[in-house]
Amino acid sequence: MQIDILTLFPAMFLGPFQESILKRAQQQGILLILLHQLRDYAFDRHQMTDDAPYGGGKGMVMKPEPIFNAVESILDGEQAPIILMTPQGQRFDQKAAIELAQYPRLLFICGHYEGVDERVRAHLVTDEYSIGDYVLTGGELAAMVMVDAITRFVPGVLGALESALQDSYVSGLLEGPQYTRPSDFRGWAVPEVLRSGNHAAIAQWQHQQALCRTFRRRPDLFAQMALTEQDRTFIAKIRSNLGEPNAE
Ligand code: 6GU
Repeated sequence: MQIDILTLFPAMFLGPFQESILKRAQQQGILLILLHQLRDYAFDRHQMTDDAPYGGGKGMVMKPEPIFNAVESILDGEQAPIILMTPQGQRFDQKAAIELAQYPRLLFICGHYEGVDERVRAHLVTDEYSIGDYVLTGGELAAMVMVDAITRFVPGVLGALESALQDSYVSGLLEGPQYTRPSDFRGWAVPEVLRSGNHAAIAQWQHQQALCRTFRRRPDLFAQMALTEQDRTFIAKIRSNLGEPNAE
């Protein structure tokens, strides 16, 4: 997959993209991330990328010419989703990550200041995304989050072990509690069932803990889930507070 990122601050991306899984994917040639400085496509004398808004108002607006110039030059006739990072965009989620991972190429435009000229949205951009209901200083951090979440679904980016771990998330449940050695830390013991060696009992416990945690922490996710009859019985028990489980 090739990802082009258009930004006024390409250096912001260097840390996150040069470590760990994204670093390995680029070294393996599975992923190509290209950073483009928007200012390089501003051809006026002062290389201006923003200007005062028509009609007055606070702040500056990103000019259309540099963005159109950059995107047309970068894509060079090739098709790809052109994604604008903006707080007004649709909320990015795991479903969008999976969908966007199907494309061989993506282009991100990182918005800044009070916004971008409406003609960029209307006549250039194909998708607008926000990563959540809070305001960031610019689209860069949001683009990094999206690139990270999307590329996890590109075949080969995750190793075998990481892919196997991924499988436990597709259920839509939150992960339950995890423990490692020591079995007793400061008097806090690892639940007995996990040390029992009874794989069926362990799997059931882990599933119930995940159900319990999702039910308590994320009722919104829980409401959308397909539950088995067993799951329903279990949750009914928690509801009436008779249940022992305590995955908060
Ligand atoms: Cl994409 N941009 C900005 N500036 N703030 C945000 C965002 C994007 N997503 C959430 N907050």
